[in-house]
Amino acid sequence: MRIQDKVVVVTGGASGLGLATARYLVEEKGAKVALFDVNEDAGQRAAAELGEKAIFVRADITSDDSVRQAVAATAARFGAVHACINCAAILGPSKVLDKEGRAPPLARFAQMAMVNLVGVFNVMSQCAEQMAKNEPEAGEERGVVINISSGAAFEGQVGQCAYASTKAGVIGLNMPAARELGVYGIRVNAIAPGLFLTPMAAQLDPKVIEALKAQTEAPNRLGDPREFAHCCAFIIENAYLNGETIRLDAASRLRAR
Ligand SMILES: NC(=O)c1ccc[n+]([C@@H]2O[C@H](COP(=O)([O-])OP(=O)(O)OC[C@H]3O[C@@H](n4cnc5c(N)ncnc54)[C@H](O)[C@@H]3O)[C@@H](O)[C@H]2O)c1
Repeated sequence: MRIQDKVVVVTGGASGLGLATARYLVEEKGAKVALFDVNEDAGQRAAAELGEKAIFVRADITSDDSVRQAVAATAARFGAVHACINCAAILGPSKVLDKEGRAPPLARFAQMAMVNLVGVFNVMSQCAEQMAKNEPEAGEERGVVINISSGAAFEGQVGQCAYASTKAGVIGLNMPAARELGVYGIRVNAIAPGLFLTPMAAQLDPKVIEALKAQTEAPNRLGDPREFAHCCAFIIENAYLNGETIRLDAASRLRAR
């Protein structure tokens, strides 16, 4: 799908990889973007910085009402939704047993599942409903969904039970969704990034960041958010890429700890 003048919903668009992608799509590719996020101050600032091709819509991806209203607001402002990039997620520790060897309360795991997996499904589903109304480009494409997973989906570390399993769930959405939505001309792909320095990654202990950096092969450094944005643009533009997960990680593989 050509990106120029297309409308792209970016969840988590107020920060990190989502914001970098929105900026790249507007400035380098001529897209219009709708930033969906719960962080109202950062979202308003980001949209103002990007100019008239961007709007911020406060949306909590765990709520179907909130996302329905946000998709409607996007369509009202820009006339359509052509792509959606699901970056919004939360990070946090989660183990099978706590330090005393007891099973922890379920609430934290359930919250991460709600944001990182149920929320992704919610936005994909509601954007797909809107995309299905588009005239197909070149007779075949009405929309593109990109869901953001993580390298942790493949090699989850100790303490990543919730994060890793929700990110594996995102990969699990690829095939059934791509197969179901193919009839509408909507493609579904995922990106599993390695470590990119964003506010989420900055929550990690500096020693952990150094260790993760040391695990990259080539180039031996953290990812640049523009490299992530470039990968999103490639997925949107390449009409034959469907049902796939791209690992964007300089060949890094997480160790157990
Ligand atoms: N940064 C990395 O190194 C890295 C590595 C692997 C995967 N990822 C994944 O990439 C994506 C982007 O990560 P990031 O580093 O830019 O994170 P970030 O923390 O900088 O941004 C996440 C954004 O999501 C928003 N958000 C959280 N809960 C929300 C909700 N319920 N509804 C709407 N918005 C909500 C936050 O307000 C924030 O603006 C995430 O899915 C993350 O898991 C990041």
